[in-house]
Amino acid sequence: MRLALLGCGTVGSEVVRLLHSQSADLAARIGAPLEIAGIAVRRIGRDRGELPVDPLVFTADPLDLVKRDDIDVVVECVGGIEPARSWLVEALRAGKSVVTANKALLAEDGGSLHDAAAQGGGDLYYEAAVAGAIPLLRPLRESLHGDRVTRVTGIVNGTTNFILSAMDSTGAGFAEALAEATDLGYAEADPTADVEGFDAAAKAAILASLAFHTRVGAADVHREGITEVAAADVASAKAMGCTIKLLCIAARGTAADGRETVSVRVHPAMIPLTHPLASVGDAFNAVFVEAEAAGQLMFYGPGAGGAPTASAVLGDVVAVSRNRLAGVRAASESAYADLPVRPMGEALTRYHISLDVTDRPGVLAAVAGVFAQHGVSIATVRQGAAGSGAAGRDDDADLVIVTHVAPDAALAATVQALRGLDAVRSVASVLRVEGSA
Ligand code: NDP
Ligand code: HSE
Repeated sequence: MRLALLGCGTVGSEVVRLLHSQSADLAARIGAPLEIAGIAVRRIGRDRGELPVDPLVFTADPLDLVKRDDIDVVVECVGGIEPARSWLVEALRAGKSVVTANKALLAEDGGSLHDAAAQGGGDLYYEAAVAGAIPLLRPLRESLHGDRVTRVTGIVNGTTNFILSAMDSTGAGFAEALAEATDLGYAEADPTADVEGFDAAAKAAILASLAFHTRVGAADVHREGITEVAAADVASAKAMGCTIKLLCIAARGTAADGRETVSVRVHPAMIPLTHPLASVGDAFNAVFVEAEAAGQLMFYGPGAGGAPTASAVLGDVVAVSRNRLAGVRAASESAYADLPVRPMGEALTRYHISLDVTDRPGVLAAVAGVFAQHGVSIATVRQGAAGSGAAGRDDDADLVIVTHVAPDAALAATVQALRGLDAVRSVASVLRVEGSA
């Protein structure tokens, strides 16, 4: 099996090392040796340390490499939309099999890759694209195909989980925790994709597509990052026996006309400490899958890093190589259900709202009235003593309200109306609550 490796950075270089150190075992498992026929990079002269590969295999022309007739499998570890999409479409249309870790491309335009694979007859595998080393996509696309997945809830971004875990354990603010994540090498120099939720949203789209047999793209995912999460929010969560996590949630639902739908969202949320995802700390990932017959399944492990991600890449290389030797291809994309994606406003969730209010008769009734007008039911109310509000004056107090489940649009409209209430000095924080009745 002759491989073209596109990219030899954090992930690609570990693919090379693993291929070398396990070459005999891999050959035995596949039934043929794996050979790296070419490695495409941007900077040929870059110092890559001690890589166990002939320097002559390096090229700066990825397109030329994927077009070569002697290549069986293209392994893409570059990232980004273009030119990666053009290389992979070219390879797939020519009948080559592709293994990629590129979640951004799969979420942006996975359809083009699946269509090209169907046209060329090769395989398209991408286990490494979501949750690094954790075997998760294969269970969704094979093992659970006899069942009906109803909901997927995950922590799929290691950087933000490290930051939120640090805020929870030390009481640090977001900026301080981000600086620590950067110092330790978790956060990239430009952490936008992680902290603004783009990386998690791409992974959410991939998970939803597989779980619900429907093409879901990054644009279908409601996305909020963690930059607005404050130390005070973390403290409020603790007071409620909760912790804050950046969750990706993909769920089946039913529209008003009775049609089945899916909703896919990424945002910070409070979850009870008793929830299986609450104990997932540091930069780890975990995904909680609920299916009608199987019940609740939990997948946990390292979601990033060169070697863990390379493990998932190589697992895919073995699978597609075996298929090629056997002259078969894996089942093609399953998107037959084609469910509509419903807007965030219709997603069902709960809110935790902290208000700074005037402490005088009738305020609680006025606040409760706003919830009632929007059809939102209050689950709990906790009021601090006089002087506990942000101003610290005797005539103010803080009020913490947790709602029952309601459509997100009704909850958001309630918060908006509260901002306009005379008795409400400020809405100190709003967080969704997930994972409890
Ligand atoms: P790196 O930035 O470390 O490596 C990227 C590689 O691509 C480098 O070797 C670079 O060449 C090469 N490259 C970039 N642009 C071009 C180009 N135009 N032509 C040819 N080669 C190019 O990225 P990672 O290894 O971290 O990530 C690779 C992929 O894996 C991405 O899709 C990422 O999302 C995904 N991924 C990464 C994880 C991680 O923990 N790092 C985890 C899961 C998925 P050069 O070396 O010369 O600069
Ligand atoms: N930046 C990603 C993370 C890498 O922090 O999880 C893995 O996709």
